[in-house]
This record gives sequence, C-alpha cells and structure tokens, in this order.
Amino acid sequence: SLPVPSVQEIVKNDSQSVPERYIQEHKNRPLGSDSCPVSSQIPIIDLHLLACGDEDERTKLNFACKEWGFFQVINHGVAEEVLQKMKTAVAAFFELPLEEKKKYSMAENDLQGYGQGYVVSDQQKLDWGDLIFLLTLPNKYKKMKYWPVTVTGFKEGIEEYATEMHKVTEEILGNLSLLMGMDKDGLRLLHAEMKQAMRLNYYPTCSRPDLVLGVSPHSDASSITVLLQDDEITGLQIRHKGGWVPVKPIPNALVVNIGDAIEAWNNGMYKSIEHRAVTNEKRARMSIATFLIPEDDVEIGPVDSVVGTYHQPVMYKKIKYVDYLRYTLSREMDGKAHTEFLKLENE
Ligand code: SIN
Ligand code: FE2
Repeated sequence: SLPVPSVQEIVKNDSQSVPERYIQEHKNRPLGSDSCPVSSQIPIIDLHLLACGDEDERTKLNFACKEWGFFQVINHGVAEEVLQKMKTAVAAFFELPLEEKKKYSMAENDLQGYGQGYVVSDQQKLDWGDLIFLLTLPNKYKKMKYWPVTVTGFKEGIEEYATEMHKVTEEILGNLSLLMGMDKDGLRLLHAEMKQAMRLNYYPTCSRPDLVLGVSPHSDASSITVLLQDDEITGLQIRHKGGWVPVKPIPNALVVNIGDAIEAWNNGMYKSIEHRAVTNEKRARMSIATFLIPEDDVEIGPVDSVVGTYHQPVMYKKIKYVDYLRYTLSREMDGKAHTEFLKLENE
C-alpha cells in the first residue's frame, strides 16, 4: 500500500483545503445524478426473534438478503455500555496527536495498523478518511504492536465488543445456513476459527462534501460485515436499484451486510452490495466495521445444498479464499464488483 497523508491532519492544518487527489471525477461525486431520490430504508431484523427460531423473522431475513444485501439489526443483545465503550475507545485513539498515532502505522506490506485505505496507484483518487485496521479474533492473529494500548480502555473496549460480535455473527450465520438449505451449523463449519477483523474509520469534516468520498464504492470481501455507526450522522450509502440509498442511523442498531464469500456460497442468491461513505461539513463521523472472514484455505463457491436442492446452474467458480483476497487487494475498485471475478462466465 502506498503511503498517503492523514486526512485528519490536512483538515487540522487548513479546514478549507481539499487537495486535488481527493476530488472525485464528476460521475463519482456524492450528488451525482444516480443518487436515489426515494427515501427507502433497508429492512430491520430482530435478532432475538431469529435466535428464538421465529420463522417469520427468518423469512424477513431472506427477503432482506435477496432484495437489499443490507439490514439493520435490533434486539441484538449487545449491551449499550459495550457499544459506548467501543465508540469511546475509537474516539480516544483518533484524538491522539499525530506523532502518537504514527507509532501504530501500517508497516509496508501489512494490512493491519493505522493509515488510509488500500492505495494501489499514484493516480487513484483518495478517500477522505483515516483508519486503523486490526485482526481481532482469534487471539493468535492479533498483532499487538498495532494496538494503542496506552489509550485507556482501548484494548478492553475492543476485546469486549469483539466477543459480542462473535456471538452476533454466529447467530446470523446460523439463520443464513438454514435459509441456504443447510443445518444451522453449516456456515459455522466453514468458519472454524470465526476469524474477525475490524476497520475503525474516522472521517473528518470536509468543506466540500459534494466533491469527495469518505470511502469509495466497494463491496466487502468478508462473509458478513457488522457496522456500528454514529447515532446521528448519516454517511453510509448503498447501491439499490441503480441509485444510492443512505442508511439512516437507528441508535444502538447494527448495520449488517452480506459479503463476497456468502454471495459465492449462495450462488448469487444473496448479493454483496456495493456501498460507499460520504462526508459532511459539520461533524466528523466515526464508524466501526467488523468483518467475519473465512480462513485462507477455505473454498468459496456454491455449496451443494444450494445448487443441489434448487437445481440452479452453478454461477461461481470454486476458489480458495486467500486467492480471492489476493485478487481483490491487487486492483482498484472501478465500479465493477470484485465478485465479477468469481463468476464462471468470466473464465
Ligand atoms: C465501510 O464500508 O468500510 C465503511 C462504511 C461506513 O463508514 O459507513
Ligand atoms: Fe465496506
């Protein structure tokens, strides 16, 4: 990844300047003509009902995954205090002076640490945001040199939240397994380690939110992603029916989306939806994305219960997750979903 400056510092030094490299081409700007005018909202799913085996709620989940690829989760059982401690930990990190934050900078050829989104070329437009990316579970993957342990409550806040996310993602996996014609532990068995990573995002204010993107359009290479976002500031937008639908925060709810791996396992019945984040002039926004990630040597590609039971043609090739990941990291997102690469027609 090519090193680029901290956006937080750019804004601190001159809150009015927007350097050239951050200015998106016209067609990609936030207020482009393809912004969705309707005020539709993504579905809301009650995780407690799912955990109780409620079939109507599971049907709602199926609809949400098919039609939207995104949903908000309520009654998830994660204590408000845990969410609050997590947000406080992230805020405390980004409040550190630059010199302190730099102690946790991503090393070359590493994905973990403090820095910016993955930059593959000098020509690439840059995102208006800083981040810290950490592997959070299981313990053997953690690189503690990237953990700002001097920030009071950081390690504890993340570890508590990671444990809760483990439970939430496990319950969702169970329900998706049933919907995909497997036993409830079907997808869980494909995640022996329940490998988990977090991307902690900080989007400073921007004097020209009409010109920049906090995160450029992408789909997540995960199995599933859980986003804890600011309770008030809207920033996330998702692709829906050709437009961009803003995801209006519901306080204490979690935003969940289907990642590329589930799309492939489910033969495209659920899509890993493209999304982006926009900025605003008034307040910095933080978000915490937790990724459930398949292990390197697990194969992604349609599972037998899906293509066998419903007699669908197999649409995706089988490929080891690590090879897919390598591919997604080697190219810039240019409006085409990474999962196109997995589709059989492409061979
Ligand atoms: C992401 O998709 O990586 C972050 C989205 C957000 O900040 O809302
Ligand atoms: Fe994402």
